[in-house]
Amino acid sequence: MRARIIAAAFLAVLFAFLTSVAMAPPTVAQAPSPMGDPNAEPAPFNPQMSALMNMLIQPRHAKLGLAGKEENWPLAGYLVKELKQGFVVISRAIPRWKGLPVGDLFDAAVIPPITILDFAIKANEPRQFNEAYGKLTAGCNACHATTDHAFIVIKAPDSASAFPNQDFAPKR
Ligand code: HEC
Repeated sequence: MRARIIAAAFLAVLFAFLTSVAMAPPTVAQAPSPMGDPNAEPAPFNPQMSALMNMLIQPRHAKLGLAGKEENWPLAGYLVKELKQGFVVISRAIPRWKGLPVGDLFDAAVIPPITILDFAIKANEPRQFNEAYGKLTAGCNACHATTDHAFIVIKAPDSASAFPNQDFAPKR
């Protein structure tokens, strides 16, 4: 009698175990999401060259062109400084890009016209500004050609501003 009770109890436990195994959801090996683990520590943000060009360079180049067209010298002076600073930040974040010395490329391609732009802005000289702005834009494209990205073609902004919420005219 006692042996039967023990055997029945044993069978009940075994049954419960087997059904729990059978009912358990299949464990599929999950590929790690490229979006990362939501419980991970925040990783440092290291934007790549293309993202930095988009963030720090392209909008400032466009805004500088718009400010110059409006002869808004205080804004142009601010933007040329910001643009130069953008190149400094990038050359520190990415000292070499595919083996090429980024700071040296910036020094050759864009720093000379930026220096002339600075003079032209301080002298309120639209003609000198336009000439140096053209050289700056040519410098962008020369570097893109040197770095195998000749298809990224920069030009002076069209007359319609791409920044609907910013006024480029001088403040009166
Ligand atoms: C080091 C030389 C260099 C100079 C100078 C330079 N660029 Fe670039 N730029 C690059 C490289 C390299 C890439 C491509 C990066 C990649 O895709 O990994 C790039 C990409 C870009 C892109 C594409 C980004 C995107 O995702 O759409 C834009 C826009 C751009 N540059 C704007 C400019 C402008 C405007 C200037 C001048 C004011 C400039 N660049 C000067 C090297 C340069």
